[in-house]
Amino acid sequence: MAGIDYLERIPNNVDLGSNRRLQRALEDWQPKFLEWWKDMGPDGFQARDVYLRTAISVDAKGWAQFGYVRMPEYRWGIFLAEPEPGRTIAFGDHKGDPAWQEVPGEYRGTLRRLIVTQGDTEPASVEQQRHLGRTCPSVYDLRNIFQVNVEEGRHLWAMVYLLQAHFGRDGREEAEALLQRRSGDRDRPRILGAFNERTPDWLSYLMFTFFTDRDGKYQLASLAESGFDPLSRTCRFMLTEEAHHLFIGETGVARVVQRTCELMRQHRTDDVRKYGALDLPLLQRYLNFHYSVSLDLFGSEISTNAANFYTLGLKGRFEETKKTDDHLLKSSMYRIAAVEGDRVIEAEQPALQTLNERLRDDYIVDCQRGVDRWNKIIRDHGIDAELRLPHRGFHRAIGTFGDVRVSPDGRLLSQAEWDAHKHEWLPTQADEQYVQSLMKPVTELGKFANWIAPPARGINGQPVDFEYVR
Ligand SMILES: [Fe+2]
Ligand SMILES: [Fe+2]
Repeated sequence: MAGIDYLERIPNNVDLGSNRRLQRALEDWQPKFLEWWKDMGPDGFQARDVYLRTAISVDAKGWAQFGYVRMPEYRWGIFLAEPEPGRTIAFGDHKGDPAWQEVPGEYRGTLRRLIVTQGDTEPASVEQQRHLGRTCPSVYDLRNIFQVNVEEGRHLWAMVYLLQAHFGRDGREEAEALLQRRSGDRDRPRILGAFNERTPDWLSYLMFTFFTDRDGKYQLASLAESGFDPLSRTCRFMLTEEAHHLFIGETGVARVVQRTCELMRQHRTDDVRKYGALDLPLLQRYLNFHYSVSLDLFGSEISTNAANFYTLGLKGRFEETKKTDDHLLKSSMYRIAAVEGDRVIEAEQPALQTLNERLRDDYIVDCQRGVDRWNKIIRDHGIDAELRLPHRGFHRAIGTFGDVRVSPDGRLLSQAEWDAHKHEWLPTQADEQYVQSLMKPVTELGKFANWIAPPARGINGQPVDFEYVR
């Protein structure tokens, strides 16, 4: 890659052109990334032109450049949000110190683990979604999934940049390992549970993009508070892209709800399967599943790891700098849910230990806002029903609720009660087969599968029937 124009090939604002060490690391990694993309990226569409946005700078003009690109030629770039002059660490034992520009030696291992864990989710979701293009409900949706996929690829680049630029040899090894693990692989699985689940159909994908990408938003937002400034700036820029992924999830599920309601009204029935749509109880079961596995991603309610990340200044709370407490949390308490006998209660715990739960609380509030908007669609159709977030203890694998059974309305259940009802609460095999039966590709411009309504508008001011993929 001698004499290569780095800015052209790898858009960046990290002065890659004059950083020989980083160039060498990337020269080694980039071909392996491309191999991974061809093996594990969107199946069957690598040679097509897709109307995608590419970030070529972080300013308002450059961060969303639209045009046709073949995905393997996408210009995955490296961007950090603009530095905040004089930024100081906002929390923990180093509160008030200048933010670190280099990795503090004593926190090296911890920080690397945080970056690797975040980085691992990015390629995992591309792997989970790789076959979906073949059953797209429209060309508009097809373009959107590819946009998410290439940006998750860029998020991987973002984390790899941090590893290669700041962690020397072990950083380079971790960057390689990120390309070697595979979602759902028995021997080399991705690090976090939800990223090893299958995403077998478009309903699952839309739910995933709403619930699981939103976990990403909260993780990135708390890493954006980090005292390690390059991590903070990287995450701040990733959040601008993440917003579009969440938009796809929220409006995607909204369009499904819309279509379901239209058919319920038109045929005066709850049983819209006859008309090839997704009934509300099925949508509720998919919601229950994706919400509960996403809640697990936040980790245990009581966590000394989370306390350490905070005290060391590595990972803050959501909107840390907007909070008005002491940002040390050594003497404050926080209320969390707990299990006592056969009941779920609330109990005060030392705030520092409960940071995972606090982040989960922020996430739940955000999820509820989306669900409220879906319920408005149902109400606007004059239908007396609503979608609900199940209780936080429902169907959990990690933490306080990991080894008890909880109903969607928050009652502790015996195993027998759970077994008797779980088919009402979680997608059944019949549900999955039915959803699968609807997954027929629709590729005529401006046409949409029968189970999902068209969007209100197209992408980047283009019409809904624009040729987003050609
Ligand atoms: Fe991401
Ligand atoms: Fe995302």
